[in-house]
Amino acid sequence: MRLDKFLCDMQIGTRSQVKGFIKKGLVSVNDIIVKKSDFQLDEEKDNVCYMGQSLSYQKLYYYMLYKPAGVVTATKDSQEPTVMTLLLDARGKGLFPVGRLDKDTEGLLLITNDGELAHNLLSPGKHVDKTYYVECAGDITDSNIRQLEVGVDIGDTALTLPAKVNLLSQSKGRYSMELTIIEGRFHQVKRMIQAVGGTVTYLRRLSMGTLYLDSTLQKGAYRPLTEQEIMDLNN
Ligand code: URA
Repeated sequence: MRLDKFLCDMQIGTRSQVKGFIKKGLVSVNDIIVKKSDFQLDEEKDNVCYMGQSLSYQKLYYYMLYKPAGVVTATKDSQEPTVMTLLLDARGKGLFPVGRLDKDTEGLLLITNDGELAHNLLSPGKHVDKTYYVECAGDITDSNIRQLEVGVDIGDTALTLPAKVNLLSQSKGRYSMELTIIEGRFHQVKRMIQAVGGTVTYLRRLSMGTLYLDSTLQKGAYRPLTEQEIMDLNN
């Protein structure tokens, strides 16, 4: 790989910026300053340093974002701010959100450029658990809970697949629960609650597969996944 491409991939700067850095002698390969942008290196083995800092080549990047309400889950949108505007400093080319949260939904969103992992997490046949904290208006009965657990008609050809319900509170026409679903249909949680006579007033995703929203993360903030979290997701 060319040295300037390597530095671009590492998000050190644009192609013309990194060419300037190389010319200025800010880049070394295996402790020798290299001033040619087209220098060929082995990105797996060579030790490239920029301003004395070693850069280890990483192709795939993984971030956990605490999505706030008010941003859309897309890489680009001509009208609205997207989740990607919250990750401006993140490294990694071709990052995208894995799955979709509604504009008013908050919580865990995985952002990566690992297409294979995204496919595995989203593939309908994989039945990956997604747990949501849900606040609702209305009343819920034991029979409604059983309906959610068995499968409800949300207007699609098939009933929803069995969900897990953990009712947390219920009083004065309001209730809250943790709901775990294994599909990812459009507006699924809102439509499931509607199917049992309620209305979702607040929705936050808590987990996706083995990945849990970090309780120390502020709304709108993100962090890279740990090695362990990446390994667990891939298993
Ligand atoms: N279900 C919904 O209804 N909305 C979301 O954002 C996620 C799941």
